[in-house]
Amino acid sequence: MKVVISENKEVLGTRASAFSAKLIHETISQKGAANIVLATGSSQFEMLESLIKEDINWSLVTCFHLDEYIGLPMTHRASFRKYLKERFVDKVQPGAFYFINGEVDPLVECQRLGDLIARHPIDLAFVGIGENAHLAFNDPPADFETEEAFLEVVLDEDCRNQQFGEGWFEKPEEVPQRAISMSVKQILKAKNIVCSVPDSRKATAVKAVIEGPVTANVPASILQQHKNTAIFLDNQSSALLSTKQGVYEK
Ligand code: GLP
Repeated sequence: MKVVISENKEVLGTRASAFSAKLIHETISQKGAANIVLATGSSQFEMLESLIKEDINWSLVTCFHLDEYIGLPMTHRASFRKYLKERFVDKVQPGAFYFINGEVDPLVECQRLGDLIARHPIDLAFVGIGENAHLAFNDPPADFETEEAFLEVVLDEDCRNQQFGEGWFEKPEEVPQRAISMSVKQILKAKNIVCSVPDSRKATAVKAVIEGPVTANVPASILQQHKNTAIFLDNQSSALLSTKQGVYEK
C-alpha cells in the first residue's frame, strides 16, 4: 500500500481528493463512466469537502454507499444517508447514488444492493478506519470469507462508543446495535481504494493496520493485500508509525 502522510487533516483531505479525482478522470476517459463507493464518519469530512470542488463530470459517476445503521431514520443526525445526501449528493448530483436503506428488511436490502453492485464493478472505494480498526462496519473479528457483497453486522462496544464519543448520539444506548455493511471481500474487489484516516484517536489502529500482521482482529489490516490502496494520514494518526513522514510504499 501507498502511505501518504500530511501535516494536518486539511492537507490530508486535499491530497486524498486530488489523488482520487485523477483516478476518476482516468476511469471516465477510458470507460466513459466510473463506479465509486463512498464512506462516512468524521474521517471523510476534509476529503469530501475537497472532492466536491474537484472538476469531475459527476453525471458519469455511479455511487454506492459503504454502510448504514439498521433502523435509524434518515432524519436522525447520525444517519449516513443524511450525511451523504447533504455533504455529497446535493452538492454534485451524481449520475446515480444507491443508498443503503436501513429501514427495510436487511436481508432483502443486502440482496438488492448485492445484485446492483454485481453489475457495477467498482473503480474506486473510499474507506476509513475505525478506532477499533474496523473496515466499513466490519468490526473485529471481521468476516474475511463471506462472498456476500453486503451483510448484516452486529456493532461492537468500541464501535458504538466511538459513534457516541463523536457526538452523533445523545446517549450511548441510542447507538443502533446493528448495521448493514459492505463486506470485506466486496471492498477488496474495488480496483482502487483510498483510505483517509486523520486524528490521534486512530494512531493505535493505524499502526496495527500498516505495520502489524493481517488478521481478522484488525479488520483493515487486510488492505495490505490490496495492491492499489493508498492510505492518507495526518501527523496525529501516523504518530506511532516507524516512518512518520513523507510518501512511501509499505
Ligand atoms: C465508520 C463509517 C464508515 C467508515 C469507518 C471509519 O463508522 N460507518 O463508513 O469508513 O467507520 O470512519 P470513522 O472512524 O470516521 O467513523
